[in-house]
Amino acid sequence: MSNNKKQALKALEQQIINDGVCLELAKQAHGLVFGSGNVDAKILFIGEAPGKKEDLQGEPFVGASGKFLNEMLKSINLMRNDVYITNIVKYRPPNNRDPSMAEKAEFLPYLLKQIEIINPRVIVTLGRHSMEQFLPGGKIGEVHGTLVKLENGTLLMPLYHPAAALYNGKLRQILKDDFVSLKGVI
Ligand code: URA
Repeated sequence: MSNNKKQALKALEQQIINDGVCLELAKQAHGLVFGSGNVDAKILFIGEAPGKKEDLQGEPFVGASGKFLNEMLKSINLMRNDVYITNIVKYRPPNNRDPSMAEKAEFLPYLLKQIEIINPRVIVTLGRHSMEQFLPGGKIGEVHGTLVKLENGTLLMPLYHPAAALYNGKLRQILKDDFVSLKGVI
């Protein structure tokens, strides 16, 4: 099972490159940050886009936000390798600017395929950029920490982005509390 998934994910990663997805971003980035973790994970985290460290290391959430995400995972007895982590946009936007609507739209079909291969029970979006792909028009301030059933039966829990919570004590506590809710689901 997991070997098949790994092969399918490798093929999908290559397809993104072959299809020339977001070529302008690709040209400025070191490389594609496709995703990492356990391909059989029941929980899939989806962030926004790689930052500088992620771009250099080719792995999502390895910088300051990643450190905080690791802490949050640990607080509910999960390790990085218990989950799978990716981003909606898989190349670093220059100067860490927000990914554009067009960039998110271009990557969406590949993200959906990636989700189909991993087949998680719960999708956790981190921040509004990935949340909006599943809940268009949703307000993160209203839906964070709640459980939504998607059409295909997969559960979705939108959370604040760890970077937003890093320097904001109130959001930090909200994110901690939402992770406790996530623990209740799994
Ligand atoms: N922020 C994200 O949204 N994704 C990363 O991979 C790193 C920081």
